[in-house]
Amino acid sequence: MTQDEMKIEVAKAALKYVVPNSIIGVGTGSTANFFIDELATIKERIKGAVASSVATANRLEDHGINVLDLNDVEEISVYIDGADESDKHLNLIKGGGGALTREKIVAAVSNQFVCIADESKLVSVLGAFPLPIEVIPMSTSYVKRQIVKTIGGSPILREGFTTDNGNLILDIHNLKIEDPKRLENQLNNVVGVVTNGLFAGRSADILLLGTANGVKTIKL
Ligand code: 5RP
Repeated sequence: MTQDEMKIEVAKAALKYVVPNSIIGVGTGSTANFFIDELATIKERIKGAVASSVATANRLEDHGINVLDLNDVEEISVYIDGADESDKHLNLIKGGGGALTREKIVAAVSNQFVCIADESKLVSVLGAFPLPIEVIPMSTSYVKRQIVKTIGGSPILREGFTTDNGNLILDIHNLKIEDPKRLENQLNNVVGVVTNGLFAGRSADILLLGTANGVKTIKL
């Protein structure tokens, strides 16, 4: 089975977590895109969706799915999104597509977070995938220096990329993240950092993992 076939399988499996007649949150990336395509087949069953990026909002709208502004929504039943890495406690690294801040906001509002990923994303220790940090542009050099001084790793500017919020992304290479919650909080305390791609304070509740032997469900 190819990686894309595994992504399609988990995208299909995620439909069972869509709560009828509710508003759902939808993530960003290739796995989330497969999910959007599947969601289109049951779009009459939901009230609408809150998107975690402009790209996702466009794809939802192209499928005729009602896209809502988060400020007009009080409750999101479930958030469905991919990840760049997950450990067995469902702490995640996200932001490979640069949408981490909006993803974190939608995940925070949602009652349940279902992560969908192919088996390559499950790791024993987070950090082989460079950790994305969204930064206010004027703070980039300062944030880089602070990270090197207080955290370690090698922060590298994502060239030619601006987030939906008009900010920049630093990807921190060469980290071995033994305590994801601690690092998430530490990074949030660096002035100029908008968000970091660790989802440990609000981890996933369920991981649907596409494997060569079918979809595995991992619950906290
Ligand atoms: C985007 C993300 C994505 O969920 C993550 O990059 C995984 O992407 P894909 O499903 O394409 O492997 O966090 O900001």
